[in-house]
Amino acid sequence: MAIVGLNELFADAEARGYAVPAFNVCDLENVQSILNAAEEMKAPVILQAAREEVQYAGGECLVGMIRATARNRGLMLAIHLDHGPSFEFAAKCIRYGFTSVMYDGSRLDVEKNAQETRRIVEMAHAVGVSVEAEIGTIGNTEMGEVVESQYLADPVTAERFAEQTGVDCLAAAFGTAHGLYKGEPKLDFDRLAEIRRRVRVPLVMHGGTGIPPAAVKKGIALGIRKINFSTILRKAFIDEMKDFMGRNPDELMTMTILSAASRAMGASAREMIAMCGANGRA
Ligand code: 13P
Repeated sequence: MAIVGLNELFADAEARGYAVPAFNVCDLENVQSILNAAEEMKAPVILQAAREEVQYAGGECLVGMIRATARNRGLMLAIHLDHGPSFEFAAKCIRYGFTSVMYDGSRLDVEKNAQETRRIVEMAHAVGVSVEAEIGTIGNTEMGEVVESQYLADPVTAERFAEQTGVDCLAAAFGTAHGLYKGEPKLDFDRLAEIRRRVRVPLVMHGGTGIPPAAVKKGIALGIRKINFSTILRKAFIDEMKDFMGRNPDELMTMTILSAASRAMGASAREMIAMCGANGRA
């Protein structure tokens, strides 16, 4: 097993032109089903948790669970904080053993976002941890089918932000959103291309659920090296759990129910790994 930093994963992804899938996790079933999929497909993966997920599992428990599950398997993975809310929370996660952190200052004005991101980069780099930041606002599908242009990242601002902060990768909003899209997502690839031209660090795509494979491919060709998936895996898990309970209403073994749901989650993870072109890369 190799638990590595984002930069190591990105170096290979950049050289061979694919994206590393990043899956949100908060419990043992998530961790097992995703790591099983990664092992089967010989794929590098990022296991990530947002604040609520870290708090649900407990940071130490989450990292311990990932390390124990990954032990003695030929895996290549990173443990990442998703949408970190503050300097303090990032520091806590580094202490738990996360190998990279995201700071999401996208709701602040851009100067304040850059200042706070810079402070976190200095602290994290001092202990060999890489940092992702957000520019523009990725938002949720509740904003509507189309993410309005005021939320998208401005390429010139993104370039300045990346230089000022020294971040290792950048989530620059170009039309994706978290959750289930109501229609086909409208992605601004011209904007993404201009961001790619100006920003040297790898780019991150949030809101991977529901992005059609052709758009994922186009994003990868334009420098996306990390794609976040959460809702799609949870939906696969819950759909199967509901189906299973419909078929077996008297089942009382939680292990049996959770195993069925985990298999569905694993199948979804395998699909996302293949879509990112990450299979066979670890
Ligand atoms: P989805 O839930 O839309 O897949 O987004 C995940 C994500 O971007 C986590 O940061």
